[in-house]
Amino acid sequence: MTAAVNYGGVTGLESLEMGAARVQVDDKKIINCRADLNQLVPFKYKWAWQKYLDACANHWMPNEINMAADVALWKDPHGLTADERLIIERSLGFFSTADSLVANNLVLAVYRHITNPECRQYLLRQAFEEALHTHAYQYVIESLGMNEAEVFNMYREIPSVARKAAWSLKYTQSLGDPNFHTGTPENDQRLLRDLIAFYVIFEGIFFYVGFTQVLSMGRRNKMTGTAEQFQYILRDESMHLNFGIDVINQIKIENPHLWTEEFKKEAIAMIREGVELEYVYAVDTMPRGILGLNAEMFKDYLQFIANRRCAQIGLTQEYPGATNPFPWMSEIMDLKKEKNFFETRVIEYQTGGALSWEDD
Ligand SMILES: [Fe+2]
Ligand SMILES: [Fe+2]
Repeated sequence: MTAAVNYGGVTGLESLEMGAARVQVDDKKIINCRADLNQLVPFKYKWAWQKYLDACANHWMPNEINMAADVALWKDPHGLTADERLIIERSLGFFSTADSLVANNLVLAVYRHITNPECRQYLLRQAFEEALHTHAYQYVIESLGMNEAEVFNMYREIPSVARKAAWSLKYTQSLGDPNFHTGTPENDQRLLRDLIAFYVIFEGIFFYVGFTQVLSMGRRNKMTGTAEQFQYILRDESMHLNFGIDVINQIKIENPHLWTEEFKKEAIAMIREGVELEYVYAVDTMPRGILGLNAEMFKDYLQFIANRRCAQIGLTQEYPGATNPFPWMSEIMDLKKEKNFFETRVIEYQTGGALSWEDD
């Protein structure tokens, strides 16, 4: 049964209503809004607009990163160990399709139901960034001369990769019905569940083993071009995650009836499942210890991250006492680019022009 009767929100494609009352800030709502969605101002959610501006200021392109050292190392039969190669292959296998899933969820499932122009402006920027990320992975795969069919099919062929994709798909499919509308508590919770699945768990937990592994290689001067791509991507992703958390919290503020005890239990169970699946991925990609990393350290790390995710959306922390074995990852994420995020950093981006680099 769809919710057409209680359908609460507009889409932005309604026929014009000549002479209708002007949009006031108080008319704006993050879901189920009835006010015109084609008028960006007056702003209500300044955090969303600010994130859009910040994301644009971080613009980058994958093919501006030099991959020559990676190509030489990858092609050298003695360049990397089998375990190091496995990490690169699995990371590209997971991420090359993962960012596409995120983009499809945004455009085909989420966008329509977020009834606010400034949030949509960020969603459009995020969607483009997801395209850039898929581009980056493809560019690495192509530069290294990897077997493209093998890499792009990993999410259907390698169980530890497939399980993460399959887990998330059910949440976006729940919204995929063209007759699905928000406006009932049940359907609004379906949207909230999708947002938690994709922002908090998929982008907020499922990306972290792969990111840590590849950035760890870069810190040891291996696959530095690939690691730099991942560093740019991680910077974008931490903003996606923070935007998603803001959206979830704003929906909660405006619709407290959705945040029931039962729903909170469900959200915690989802986060726990996410931690389990990501741990299995860590074990699969690191059958032995490597680069000073091992799967057990990732158990701690994932629990530490999960605690943070719980706190960010107002849930009690599930893993008391979990510690962070990779404090350098937080440093990378917390630093803004003007505070030396990169070893060599972008100081200006000009459309159609080259990046300017400045050594610190
Ligand atoms: Fe992405
Ligand atoms: Fe993302």
